[in-house]
Amino acid sequence: ETGYVTLDPGFVNTASCASAITYIDGDAGILRYRGYPIEELAEKSTFLETSYLLIHGELPTPAQLSEFEEQIKHRTLLHERFKSFFSGFPSSAHPMAVVSSAVSALATYYPDSLDPFDQEQVDISSVRLMAKLPTIAAYAYKSSVGQPLLYPDNSLGYVENFLRMTFGFPAQNYEVDPEIAKILDMLFILHADHEQNCSTSTVRLVGSSNANLFSSVSAGVNALWGPLHGGANQAVLEMLEGIHSSGDDVRSFVNKVKNKEDGVKLMGFGHRVYRNYDPRAAVVKKATRKVLDTLGVQDPLLDLAMQLEEVALADDYFVERKLYPNVDFYTGVIYKALGFPVNAFTVLFALGRLPGWIAQWREMITDPATKIGRPRQVYVGAPERHYPNA
Ligand code: SDX
Repeated sequence: ETGYVTLDPGFVNTASCASAITYIDGDAGILRYRGYPIEELAEKSTFLETSYLLIHGELPTPAQLSEFEEQIKHRTLLHERFKSFFSGFPSSAHPMAVVSSAVSALATYYPDSLDPFDQEQVDISSVRLMAKLPTIAAYAYKSSVGQPLLYPDNSLGYVENFLRMTFGFPAQNYEVDPEIAKILDMLFILHADHEQNCSTSTVRLVGSSNANLFSSVSAGVNALWGPLHGGANQAVLEMLEGIHSSGDDVRSFVNKVKNKEDGVKLMGFGHRVYRNYDPRAAVVKKATRKVLDTLGVQDPLLDLAMQLEEVALADDYFVERKLYPNVDFYTGVIYKALGFPVNAFTVLFALGRLPGWIAQWREMITDPATKIGRPRQVYVGAPERHYPNA
């Protein structure tokens, strides 16, 4: 009678769609792309090979992979007029706002690619996004620091090209450390897809109106920016720097989290699906020490992160709530060591997640059974009533 109902928790967590792309077992800490365990791909594959697997469903033959790499190489350039786009933003602009705007603007340069059912155009748009997002990301950074934009150099690999456009200068040669490029490539693999997370569901939902791929991915970039989602990698670094500069010891910070003081959370911990250690976090944690040793970097924030993990995983508050490190807990320490500014960390997450967004959008467009469709709600507002007589 009052019009109020209590939501059955199951209602909120029912599966939103079917998909053949990524499998997660949150209790067992299992993650597979098209059936392949993430640990094997991170160790043996490359980001472009894994991107091909996600988008097309099978690992490419050597010929298919080199064709895919060539197609990407020859679309890394942005339209020359696009370069002025970046100078329109204040240098303080958050790069996620610049990147989502630039991705959306791609739709203005390719008016022939807006039909989601034109398979040839969808294939070209998929390659264009893979090719141009690193250029967009690098230009967003260069514009923010007032440095000249570098054209892509197609003699370089995918990640090397991105690193050179980000950290290189026209006036001098930029040598990419192959070890560093390999680690960043591996990190992109770990981020490449993750089932129906917030940003991927956003890409699917926007695309379910038959909106084009660029507009759908731009929406996904915006969803990823949130600190509860991809923005957590930036929030983790800011949390670690805050603890470090305050001189707080780890235990007193953990107590603040447990007492929910000022709503503080242990960023990089917890997950809507994993009730066990995020398998990606385990791989990243191992890589973190290797990166710092390769670079000869001592970063107290890594030791701090490891102490936080140790204290939290021994504390009932976290154990009872099944809160473990997620993919974002250690990545920021690596990105900082590579020289990226903190506000660019989530852009790196977007670069890794791009093939997953593309794959999921393509699956949704071609198979109505996998469409999220139009979500319904349970109305809990005021019952019918009538406007008072004037
Ligand atoms: C990503 O979905 C995906 O797949 C996402 C992602 C991907 O690859 O796309 O994996 C990437 O987004 C990883 C998550 C990054 N976000 C963070 O690290 C932000 C910090 N974590 C959270 O805010 C939280 O854990 C969520 C949002 C990630 C998950 O929230 P849940 O599982 O829905 O848990 P909840 O919010 O319902 O909380 C349950 C309890 C609460 O306490 P009580 O009310 O029981 O007392 O756990 C507590 C929460 O307060 N809790 C935390 C906590 N996370 C949950 N307490 C302290 N620190 C935390 N991080």
